[in-house]
Amino acid sequence: MRISRRHFLGTASVAVMTPAIIGRAMAATGGKALPIPDVLDLRGGGGPVALDAMAARSKIIEGRETVTVGYGQGFLGPVIRVNRGETARLNLGNRINEPVTVHWHGMHIDGNQDGGPHSPIANGEVMEAALDIDQPATTLWYHSHIHQRTATHVWFGLAGMLIVDDPDAAASELPSDYGKDDIPLVVQDRIFDNSGQMLYAPQGPTRMMGYRGSEILVNGAIRPQATVPPAMVRLRVLNGSNARIFHFGFEDGRQFYQVASDGGLLPTPMPMNTLTLAPAERAEIVVDFSDGAAARLLSAPDNNTMMGSMGGGMMGMMRGAVPEPVGDGGVFEVMTFAVDQTRSGGVTALSKTLAGAPVPAFGEPVRRRQFSLDMMPRGMGMRGMMGGGHGMAINGASMDMGVINEKMRLGEAEIWQVSTREMAHPFHVHGCSFQVLSLNGQKVDFGRMGMKDVVLVNGTAELLVQVDRKADADHPFMYHCHILEHEDLGMMGQFTVA
Ligand code: C2O
Ligand code: CU
Ligand code: CU
Repeated sequence: MRISRRHFLGTASVAVMTPAIIGRAMAATGGKALPIPDVLDLRGGGGPVALDAMAARSKIIEGRETVTVGYGQGFLGPVIRVNRGETARLNLGNRINEPVTVHWHGMHIDGNQDGGPHSPIANGEVMEAALDIDQPATTLWYHSHIHQRTATHVWFGLAGMLIVDDPDAAASELPSDYGKDDIPLVVQDRIFDNSGQMLYAPQGPTRMMGYRGSEILVNGAIRPQATVPPAMVRLRVLNGSNARIFHFGFEDGRQFYQVASDGGLLPTPMPMNTLTLAPAERAEIVVDFSDGAAARLLSAPDNNTMMGSMGGGMMGMMRGAVPEPVGDGGVFEVMTFAVDQTRSGGVTALSKTLAGAPVPAFGEPVRRRQFSLDMMPRGMGMRGMMGGGHGMAINGASMDMGVINEKMRLGEAEIWQVSTREMAHPFHVHGCSFQVLSLNGQKVDFGRMGMKDVVLVNGTAELLVQVDRKADADHPFMYHCHILEHEDLGMMGQFTVA
């Protein structure tokens, strides 16, 4: 199916989002069965598999058709599975009337395979991808990454999950029956207008602080219900939102275990009651449903706004402009779980250590770099921030496709010091997984955070970064804020690795 540019782009320009429009936005009913994404299984090698970006009308809201885009399907994409040690081959096509990319977020591959802004696929074109998978088992994702269009593309559906399998990690004995006790959860917030269309119109404060939605979708369905066995269940959670930070927890306060973060398994399961995930972060958690009790997964509201740093009349305007899902005291439902006693789960207990967990084996850092994330770079001020094409920057420079900002040496460890001012920013680096050494001067326990490729920085962070994949000036790697509106506004830079 082909869609006119007007439809895909039109949605963004039809409605100027104001608090009034948010007030009229549709409140949709949830509770449908959780969709389990199809698997595009690239394990075992073989010939290239086609994956086309396409548009469609999707049934998200009862009685309405929503214009969406997806990879190989109408909305979002399949869960792609690849094996460590193999080459995954895809023919990436595009049936949308504007260029898209397929960026392999978190994958350790060379810049020319990374699918960043320098690798557009035009309408009707096919790009061959050969991804040499060489990293520990983990949950990654893929999404479009056209400069200044990433936020729009992801919002309307160009995103999916990718799972790296590694025989070393099989010994961890985690639940691994896909869709049964090993369940992908792509969590996103969206806004729907009364005709059931997704509304994307960042403007003023919602552009400045990132665009959030008043409805929660999991795997493309509104606040769905998963049915699980009375056993340990592994949830692979991706925050696929443009800007919203989730603070997940169960209504009954039950404990769960985090077993993996962005870059792979944690050395040992970490017990917790709440889990914060910023945009693009992933966590695998294991939840015990053996008592048969139903559960509700909730989130606390996202307070990552500029309230603190802005005064007076701006406050009310901005508060009204950040839509929050309806909930008690700001806490809202993400999805629910029902336990089916007739199903049996494979795993009833977690092992104390997780086999196949990555161990950071970086060399001594040989240099330091500073990255200062600016929402109001000098000379641009509020005008740059609120309107205009650019306005946000790293180290005073807005993203320029023609400028290489940093040059790294292959395999050399470095300390990256990232600092933020006006609000917290999820900082992401392509081509590698890094270790978070400290946050605001406090040493970070590796066992809690594991290997990361996105870290929420609210103040300062020190990262130990080593990139073992090459990237030249034609296909450099990116580092950027993963609040997609910030990224599109220029809070991004480019680096080569040689
Ligand atoms: Cu999720 Cu530059 O990417
Ligand atoms: Cu990325
Ligand atoms: Cu940001």
